[in-house]
Amino acid sequence: MKSECILVIGANGQIGSVLVEYLRELYGVGQVVASDLRQPDHETGLFEQLDATDANALAALVKKYRITQIYHLAAILSAKGEQEPLKTWHINMQTYFNVLEAARENNVAKVFYPSSIAVFGDHVDTKAEQWSYLDPATVYGISKTAGENWSNYYYKRYGMDIRSLRYPGIIGYQSMPGGGTTDYAVDIYHKAVKGEAFDCFLKAATTLPMIYISDAMDATVRLMEAPIDKITIRTGYNLAGISFSPEEVAASIRKFIPDFQINYKPDFRQQIADSWPQQIDDAEARKDWGWRPAYSLDKMTEEMIAALKTKYQSVKS
Ligand code: NAD
Ligand code: SER
Repeated sequence: MKSECILVIGANGQIGSVLVEYLRELYGVGQVVASDLRQPDHETGLFEQLDATDANALAALVKKYRITQIYHLAAILSAKGEQEPLKTWHINMQTYFNVLEAARENNVAKVFYPSSIAVFGDHVDTKAEQWSYLDPATVYGISKTAGENWSNYYYKRYGMDIRSLRYPGIIGYQSMPGGGTTDYAVDIYHKAVKGEAFDCFLKAATTLPMIYISDAMDATVRLMEAPIDKITIRTGYNLAGISFSPEEVAASIRKFIPDFQINYKPDFRQQIADSWPQQIDDAEARKDWGWRPAYSLDKMTEEMIAALKTKYQSVKS
């Protein structure tokens, strides 16, 4: 067992609720402190309620548990962020400044910062390269781009070991997404398994980069565990899983649920999706720390449907 004490901020969200369990399996239940603005539905280990915009409260937690690693997940995502741009900027940036300062003042060994495909904008035509120009179209994307640059600044100025991935849309059965543009790709599986038709807020052919949750967990820990001399990018690593459109995921679902129906009712999220790349080139992550995704679209669909069937059956019984 490794002697780490890890703080996960924003632990009750789509990624956090899965990541906390993943880290607890890896490092031990007592080595991972989950924290969030909201109380969790059920506690499976140490939990501390925290508003990460409160610098003193965050620093006190870091001191109390002698934290060695912080995973900073708290943020307002792309679609929700557009409802209140200035509030989104404040939450996304202030929480990260508080993490950076608490980590610097308390010699936290490593920080994980989740960036996003939302850092890319209209200057990327189809495929985003690692060093493609960043002109994000949403306040969320602007905050992630700024966060990446602050990570790089703290690395260069203070020598802090901050690591970051540009996550594609995350798809998993364990938790629900919290206000992003890629959320449809989780919701669609729930509707399909419940035997309901799905109203999709994106057009049929809108291809976006996505990743299955197991691959995302693997990439995150692989990055954080990589020897320090393998980390050559201190802004955010491009990360690719599977790119697909709503009509392609619907076709994949029909291989398992043949009568599944989808209707297309695009809304404001179409414009956000149109500003994002369709493909991600993650050659640097592959080269530096051996990243390889394991899931194809059909393999993910099979696992999502099987897991959700079990979940809904156990709720019924
Ligand atoms: P989510 O919205 O599901 O969860 C975010 C969590 O942060 C929530 O539980 C919320 O209560 C908490 N939170 C919000 N404000 C807080 C505050 N002031 N203090 C403490 N906690 C606060 O988000 P997620 O999908 O789990 O995403 C986690 C991170 O990964 C985010 O930074 C997001 O930008 C990034 N990301 C997610 C995706 C994705 O597809 N889910 C893709 C790219 C990047
Ligand atoms: N999945 C996220 C969103 O849609 C991308 O960062 O906002």
